[in-house]
Amino acid sequence: MNFHPQILIDASYLLAAFLFIYGLKRMSSPVTARSGIVVAGWGMLIAVLASFLYVFSVEEAAKPHLVVNVVLAAVALLLGLGWAWRSGKKVEMTAMPQMVALYNGMGGGAAAAIAAVELLKPSAEYTLIPLVVTIIGALIGGISLSGSMIAWAKLDGRINGTWRIKGQQALNGVVFLATLALGLFIAFAEHGHAPVILTAAFFVGALIFGVLMTMPIGGADMPVVISLFNAFTGLAVGFEGFVLQNPALMIAGMVVGSAGTLLTLLMAKAMNRSVANVIFSNFGAAGDEQQGEIKGSMKPVDAGDAGINMRYASKVIIAPGYGLAVAQAQHKLYEFVKLLQDAGVEVKFAIHPVAGRMPGHMNVLLAEAGVPYDIIYDMEDINGEFKEADVAIVIGANDTVNPAARTNKSSPIYGMPILNVDQAKQVYVVKRGQGKGYSGVENELFFADNTNMVYGDAQKVMVAMTQAVKSLDGGGH
Ligand code: TAP
Repeated sequence: MNFHPQILIDASYLLAAFLFIYGLKRMSSPVTARSGIVVAGWGMLIAVLASFLYVFSVEEAAKPHLVVNVVLAAVALLLGLGWAWRSGKKVEMTAMPQMVALYNGMGGGAAAAIAAVELLKPSAEYTLIPLVVTIIGALIGGISLSGSMIAWAKLDGRINGTWRIKGQQALNGVVFLATLALGLFIAFAEHGHAPVILTAAFFVGALIFGVLMTMPIGGADMPVVISLFNAFTGLAVGFEGFVLQNPALMIAGMVVGSAGTLLTLLMAKAMNRSVANVIFSNFGAAGDEQQGEIKGSMKPVDAGDAGINMRYASKVIIAPGYGLAVAQAQHKLYEFVKLLQDAGVEVKFAIHPVAGRMPGHMNVLLAEAGVPYDIIYDMEDINGEFKEADVAIVIGANDTVNPAARTNKSSPIYGMPILNVDQAKQVYVVKRGQGKGYSGVENELFFADNTNMVYGDAQKVMVAMTQAVKSLDGGGH
């Protein structure tokens, strides 16, 4: 039989690349996102299987040697598959950013590993450009691997706080430049045939820099950092794909690299900060001294009374935040929303772009509870409607509704776009106590004349509100 595996491999890679891009396109809307993930997953499966066809394209003499590699690759794949399947099934929504960090790190590590194999091949003939690309990919991949591990450990609460020493940035700069110089030395002076110890030192340098770069950044900034590492991983994979002349890797790398970059910029913009500010400054550590005096007092109200008031409103807008995810109150919340709708109340959800702890966090959470997409609005689409709302209810959100972002120039969140909940006639804020938000600053909204605090865990509060409205409607009319 005259079988030309290379044609099949190339066709499969092309199909895989198409599926990656099409999948990503579908991920741009919550309605199609789930199917987009599945489509991209099929693309990945096809790319992986096509890589195994490589065995058929080598000469007979080289095949026995390849068998060992194929077995090793298959074992690694099975282990990875089993681990990812298990962790993917049991991961909590609140632990999703950690998982993304881990997967990112693995991608960066894989790119660095490809580079290591290329650099350690004794017989390889290198030309300069692929060699430099290999080195740059290895550097970025190594940084992404160790940096993502630190990001994971911080988000998972395994490393607490930030680690900063005097002259931190100078030290980081020295380590980075030394590693880069070593890499370029390997490429230019040694033509890729440097002693193993030098190559190893280069990789260790990249890993150390990833740790040094990530350690000073606060845990709460990690989503931005993870997205940045995501972009790094994409770049590294793209570079190594170029070295291997593998179109699937190149395209997947470019897609991940550009998506990661855009997402990083988007998040930074929504927080009104530059990416450099996230990486080099210690946000969240700001003390209260940065704020002016806040007038007014916090006025608690009973959850049941607040629920009944909403039952008689004509328009209610809900601003969810990180606390909703912590309390896992999305199902109870939607139950309450349905009661309000049955009573003729118009209910809408207002989603701040960085509500929660990762992009799309609130959309995913509400989708999980079955909230229809057509009552969920992005900030810019709903901000003009708060002044017509009878009630705005803030559930476990804080910074994203802090009017100081509009008015107080000395506040660390000054300039951050916020939901205009304070413009509603009545504001209810559901939270457990005096806990501050992610930025660590006090919220002026809580002290405003038209605001009442509904203290308690978001889930318990939603149950209390639902019961109050049910008992009213059950025995009232
Ligand atoms: P936060 O500012 O973190 O506020 C969450 C609030 O929820 C806290 O004030 C807390 O107060 C309350 N809470 C916690 N657990 C609760 C529970 N079980 N029941 C009821 N309330 C609970 O949240 P946000 O408004 O969603 O803002 C997100 C912040 O994260 C923004 O500053 C944003 O810049 C930052 N950030 C977001 C992202 C992305 S992509 N989403 C990325 C990086 C940074 P108590 O402790 O008193 O209950």
